[in-house]
Amino acid sequence: MSVKVKGFLKDVGGASRVTAARKNAIETASAVPDPKDPIRELADLLHPAKMEFIVESVRDTSPTAKVFRMKSADGHLPVFQAGQYVNFRLKIGESDLTRPYTISSAPCDARGKDGYIEVTIRRNRPYLVPDWFFENVRPGTVLQGNMPFGNFYYEPMRDSKNLVALAGGSGITPFHAMAREIAYGRMKDVRLTILYGSVHHSDIILGEELAAIERDCPNVKVVNILSGDDAWEGEKGFLTRELIEKYSGEDPTYLFCGPLAMFTMIDGFMKDMGITRRRFRRDVLNQPADPTKIPDWPQGNEQKTWKIRVLRGIDETVIDAAGSEPVAVALERAGIPVDTHCRCGECGYCRSKLLSGEIFVPEFGDGRRMMDKEFGWFHACVSYPVSDLSIKINIM
Ligand SMILES: Cc1cc2nc3c(=O)[nH]c(=O)nc-3n(C[C@H](O)[C@H](O)[C@H](O)COP(=O)(O)OP(=O)(O)OC[C@H]3O[C@@H](n4cnc5c(N)ncnc54)[C@H](O)[C@@H]3O)c2cc1C
Ligand code: FES
Repeated sequence: MSVKVKGFLKDVGGASRVTAARKNAIETASAVPDPKDPIRELADLLHPAKMEFIVESVRDTSPTAKVFRMKSADGHLPVFQAGQYVNFRLKIGESDLTRPYTISSAPCDARGKDGYIEVTIRRNRPYLVPDWFFENVRPGTVLQGNMPFGNFYYEPMRDSKNLVALAGGSGITPFHAMAREIAYGRMKDVRLTILYGSVHHSDIILGEELAAIERDCPNVKVVNILSGDDAWEGEKGFLTRELIEKYSGEDPTYLFCGPLAMFTMIDGFMKDMGITRRRFRRDVLNQPADPTKIPDWPQGNEQKTWKIRVLRGIDETVIDAAGSEPVAVALERAGIPVDTHCRCGECGYCRSKLLSGEIFVPEFGDGRRMMDKEFGWFHACVSYPVSDLSIKINIM
């Protein structure tokens, strides 16, 4: 065996020089701790832990959707990518809730002293949080939350320049942000084709805004596909494999954003078309209102009520939990704050420890690491109780 003495001596010499430098720094340092931490300050600027947003305006963008424009109370909006979301923290009745909403305006809109962000919220049936927004949020309302979150954005190192967006319902919002960013001349040479499925013409969200972008910007194309509007002269029916292929062009990267039911269908097309995961990215916006539609659902669980013993710091509470709702919703209903962001099993913010009992985790929402599964960790936003449980959650 040969030993490289020269390299070894160099390392020892280097190490002793560092030691001397450290010694000198310690000897000459102030005894009073320096409260400034430039790395911490930079991290806070990029990702503030808490923000206040002041609503500037509210406007209709369809009979069922409103656009809420807001500024940051301290004048600073962190840098974000088109497709990312803001997480609002709300107190509705007894419940402390968090809800994600995609920033539907472009990153460019947020820059400068008049910079703003917009979120577009749909209420096509009674909902908890959209109802609250529609009825309570006015110009001047102050909202709590933080941003930016999510990895549903164009990444030039990974994605091709031909983006094909597959959207349903409020899933149009990230693509509106991307379309605006392209129209501003950002996302250089990227072409965006949006295939947007709705029932009636009146269900189309941000339709006029997108039509205006399309008129001015040759790199953005919008195809509305309506399933229940006989008077519609454009593409009719559902978003099918044939339609996807018709508008795909060369070397597409597919981006899906919409409800779970639509995702299940599109995912099937992508598999049939031989599209790899790398070329098909997704953002699923909600858990199904009817959990019995979830593949492998434990039959009859939707009619049961379970007890959950919740350990939180030194607190211990026992709550009721409907078998039809994820554990996070049971906690929110009981007024126990739980830190959720993506609410689809992906980000891990709601990661909790299962001390005893059984849960059902739908395959599509199981974003846990292998070791987490092994050692009883679960994501409360997508896990349903199927027995009485004992769990430990983080203090928010
Ligand atoms: C990344 C991401 C981005 C999104 N972006 C958008 C967007 O741009 N625009 C948009 O419109 N939507 C968006 N959504 C969906 C949005 O976050 C909401 O889920 C949606 O507006 C429906 O509101 P809700 O959750 O209150 O719905 P609901 O279906 O009314 O409620 C959700 C759950 O809360 C339960 N619940 C009912 N009452 C209570 C109570 N008192 N306390 C606690 N829980 C209760 C319900 O039973 C249900 O299980 C996005 C979702 C994700 C994951
Ligand atoms: S909130 Fe993201 S995994 Fe639960």
